[in-house]
Amino acid sequence: MRILITGAAGFLGSHLSEKLLLEGHSVIGMDNFLTGDPQNLAHLTTNENFSFIRHDVSNFIFVPGKLDAVLHFASPASPNKDSPYGYPNLPIQTMKAGALGTHNALGVAKANNAIFLLASTSEIYGDPKEHPQKESYWGNVDPTGPRSMYDEAKRFAEALTMSYHRFHGINTRIVRIFNTYGPRMRLDDGRVIPNFIQQALKNEPLTIYGEGTQTRSFCYVDDLIDGIYRLLLSDIHEPVNIGNPVEMSVLELALKINEIINNPAGIIVKDDKRLGDDPERRRPDISKAKTLLDWEPEYPLTQGLSKTIPYFRIKLGIK
Ligand SMILES: NC(=O)c1ccc[n+]([C@@H]2O[C@H](COP(=O)([O-])OP(=O)(O)OC[C@H]3O[C@@H](n4cnc5c(N)ncnc54)[C@H](O)[C@@H]3O)[C@@H](O)[C@H]2O)c1
Repeated sequence: MRILITGAAGFLGSHLSEKLLLEGHSVIGMDNFLTGDPQNLAHLTTNENFSFIRHDVSNFIFVPGKLDAVLHFASPASPNKDSPYGYPNLPIQTMKAGALGTHNALGVAKANNAIFLLASTSEIYGDPKEHPQKESYWGNVDPTGPRSMYDEAKRFAEALTMSYHRFHGINTRIVRIFNTYGPRMRLDDGRVIPNFIQQALKNEPLTIYGEGTQTRSFCYVDDLIDGIYRLLLSDIHEPVNIGNPVEMSVLELALKINEIINNPAGIIVKDDKRLGDDPERRRPDISKAKTLLDWEPEYPLTQGLSKTIPYFRIKLGIK
């Protein structure tokens, strides 16, 4: 297939580009480097099946030649309000990528009669009243809250995708991605795993905000990309959760990272300064992916972290 990936220079977009090239497809990456990094694609630029277009997806998308699939991943993705790359500091860009960007990406898919796959998120469930979260759960989101620029943009993007499917008959997919980690995450976008790894590698105490009792489920990137690839090849138009259902508290995560890196500095507890409406619990119900895609994650956290830490060592110049 000849595939357009928006957000290709980001963490997930770059891994997805790599996977699709390995599977024999031809990839056109598109990105405006708002939160991504050209370095993430540097190893692909010599591949004759890869090309790149620098473009903001909030503007009309045109790609010369026939496309078979459009994968829409362009959007800021970190909730950290202290990072310039967090969506709280890029609220309009985030809403535009989710709303106008999805519209433009659907438009180019329609013009090419191509498959369209939307990167949605577990954040559409908000602070969930149901646990674990099944795809049938409608969510608990404040439409004007501090996370609304991201959550509502993605909810709109899902609704627009289903509208194009139902009204125009576009061959769409929606993946609801739960927290994913791995090499090529930004050091400075404030997501919890790069933050902790960075502090541990510098032998600093790991900062826990509040009590650290909020839970998350972390999926290693190779597992996620495998699930997305299976979804792309399927004919499932309804949303599918892809994530790792092993749930742990942020405190447990910190202790695990300190143990693997052998960081003697321990943890430090600071006053809670997380962005408001931070979900207390988050765990995917992946029965649908198991049944329909024959997919489940393979990497336990320790193994995934062991594949991730060397990347940050190199980035930080720590031996
Ligand atoms: N990583 C996760 O755990 C996770 C979880 C849920 C959903 N997602 C979704 O997956 C997608 C990728 O996330 P990521 O973690 O790789 O984030 P990322 O910030 O590393 O990548 C996003 C990419 O999109 C690009 N981009 C942003 N706005 C753009 C625009 N207007 N035009 C062109 N390019 C633009 C950025 O420059 C960046 O390269 C996002 O849509 C995100 O919402 C990620």
